[in-house]
Amino acid sequence: MSLPLPTIEKIDLSPERIEELHGEIKELAAKRGAVILAHNYQRPEVQGVADYVGDSLGLSRQAAETEAAVIVFCGVHFMAETAAILSPQKKVLLPDLRAGCSLAASITAEDVRKWKAKFPDHIAVGYVNTTAEVKAELDYCCTSGNVIDVIDAIPEDKGILFLPDFFLGAHVRRMRPDRNVQVWMGECHVHKEINTRTVNARRAEYPEAEVLVHPECGCAGQLIYGVGMGDVDPNGVHILSTEGMVRAATNGSDDDTFIVATEVGILTRMQQVAPNKTFIPADPEALCAFMKTSTLDAIRDSLVKDQHIITVPPDVAERATAALDRMVSIG
Ligand code: 13P
Ligand code: SF4
Repeated sequence: MSLPLPTIEKIDLSPERIEELHGEIKELAAKRGAVILAHNYQRPEVQGVADYVGDSLGLSRQAAETEAAVIVFCGVHFMAETAAILSPQKKVLLPDLRAGCSLAASITAEDVRKWKAKFPDHIAVGYVNTTAEVKAELDYCCTSGNVIDVIDAIPEDKGILFLPDFFLGAHVRRMRPDRNVQVWMGECHVHKEINTRTVNARRAEYPEAEVLVHPECGCAGQLIYGVGMGDVDPNGVHILSTEGMVRAATNGSDDDTFIVATEVGILTRMQQVAPNKTFIPADPEALCAFMKTSTLDAIRDSLVKDQHIITVPPDVAERATAALDRMVSIG
């Protein structure tokens, strides 16, 4: 399944205009009893108006726990679907319907059913970057933040079907080499471009820097292989979720320079929580066009026009809930 990639709109707002839009949005949100959730890859001015900014696991937890009647989800479609499943009594708004995900689009529910038919005794584990229909076919859902804990929660004698991300699957295999893990060959168009060559070039420029790598990265699998082959120095390389990266920057260590191998939106958050540290994007071109569709105008419009309401058919939601509940409760 291929997904049209939106064009990334260049938006140059003055600080005054940003403040004005933030004021409008906050007022509308208060009137409607809405909470604004934003993923770490969102535009800086969108992160600035959010009540909570975090990784996909943190956002799922917020969606499940919030008392708000309306959730404005500044992220991508599968994340808003997850919020709708976890909080069925809330209204979930996605500011722009073009906010898909190339990784989620790499597998369909029919693909999962066929795969499971080939390995009937295996446990199906899916990354949260999947559609609700795919989640409905899973035993467990996970995020990059709790994937290893989820694998450890499955009895050791059970084989595992891991989907859809090949690189995250490679990470699981490396961390748990004794487990029988079959991996789907899906990938994210952004992370697959961040490779060992790019990361090694940055390391040559900043030899003292710690290297923070999202497990979805092209380089995660290659780095792991490279470490094994002796081509990559393993010192200072950390494989982390986006929130794990934020924590690494604020964990009180003396490390002050970090090469960050994921979508560059995360740098806004890192710079904010650790203003005295230096963050170098492994690839400054690593931008997720889907994530950038939520603009302040689109968020304001979503609250004014009550758009776009994300719903999941009850039978699909019911089947997806068990896998998602396990994800939220583990790790
Ligand atoms: P996190 O789970 O680390 O937030 O990542 C989500 C995602 O879409 C990565 O591209
Ligand atoms: Fe999906 Fe990749 Fe964008 Fe993350 S960065 S939302 S995996 S397309």
